Amino acid sequence: MSKIILTGDRPSGKLHIGHYVGSLKRRVELQNSGEFDKIYIMIADAQALTDNFDNPEKVRANITEVALDYLACGIDPTKSTVFVQSHVAELTELTFYYMNLVTLARLERNPTVKAEIKQKNYELSLPMGFLTYPVSQTADITAFKATTVPVGEDQLPMLEQAREIVRSFNNLYGETLVEPKAVLPENKSCLRLPGTDGMAKMSKSLGNCIYLSDSADEIKRKVMSMYTDPNHLKVSDPGDTEHNPTFIYLDAFAKDEQFSRYLPEYANLAEMKAHYERGGLGDMKVKKFLNAVMQETLEPIRLRREELAKDIPAIWDMLYKGSEEAKAVAAQTLSEVKKAMRIDYFSDRK
Ligand code: TRP
Repeated sequence: MSKIILTGDRPSGKLHIGHYVGSLKRRVELQNSGEFDKIYIMIADAQALTDNFDNPEKVRANITEVALDYLACGIDPTKSTVFVQSHVAELTELTFYYMNLVTLARLERNPTVKAEIKQKNYELSLPMGFLTYPVSQTADITAFKATTVPVGEDQLPMLEQAREIVRSFNNLYGETLVEPKAVLPENKSCLRLPGTDGMAKMSKSLGNCIYLSDSADEIKRKVMSMYTDPNHLKVSDPGDTEHNPTFIYLDAFAKDEQFSRYLPEYANLAEMKAHYERGGLGDMKVKKFLNAVMQETLEPIRLRREELAKDIPAIWDMLYKGSEEAKAVAAQTLSEVKKAMRIDYFSDRK
């Protein structure tokens, strides 16, 4: 069986370092591993509209922002097919048939969707499109017969939902769809990067994100004002590294060799953490090192992004090519689905 990747992001904002460590970096590694027969990376504009239907301009503007973020991080359109979800109408058709295979109660149990409903104040006026987006996500994954879906931890319930729908479909109509597997980032601290303010998640509305497109000054300002351990008042106080976002970011980004360059008194992060935990290491010093690490990580991405942003029509061309290719693949799966369901009434007329 071929090994196929499908993954994607909602274009509801620029991508931040949480996206980078949570999935983008891994995608680029998987892309370059040569282990996969096909890689599809989808800009999920139709899904973004499920909670931005009143602001399609925002979604439109962010399609190119997300595409720039992808390419800047190393997604290579000669190796990966980057496409726009709404161009592939077959996905909507698949969604409609999959809707029959899932109950309202099942959708309401999805913990990620549940948390989003709360966060968006949708409790009293829940748009159906929003509640059912995990079904459309199943269509995204299965249309490409994806075996592997590299995502962040918050997407695990979507994968579980997809696997259930695939099993029901295959049981009812015969083996047609492929059951996908999620792959999570390897580094535990990358599963979910907290916001710079210490909140559990980075979110645009909280203003606690560091973006891939942030200038060097913005990165520095954000790092230097990060939330740390509120009980670490004096340098000599013992500090907590486990719930301290500066150390969580270091876990996700710092490499041993950066210690010899910027902070030679420690051989590695474990030594630095031990010092902070027993007391005697100040937050300022931690932040200065973190800033150096972040600047080193983000500078090449930002410079590539600035270069690519000079030719936006080329970005749309790349997306159109990818979207046409994706459409052809999804159309093939849709015809198999209709055949399995025995609703391919006119297939012999072409
Ligand atoms: N839900 C994902 C996000 O919020 C985007 C997405 C849509 C996706 N369809 C997908 C991810 C299919 C993986 C597979 O970013």
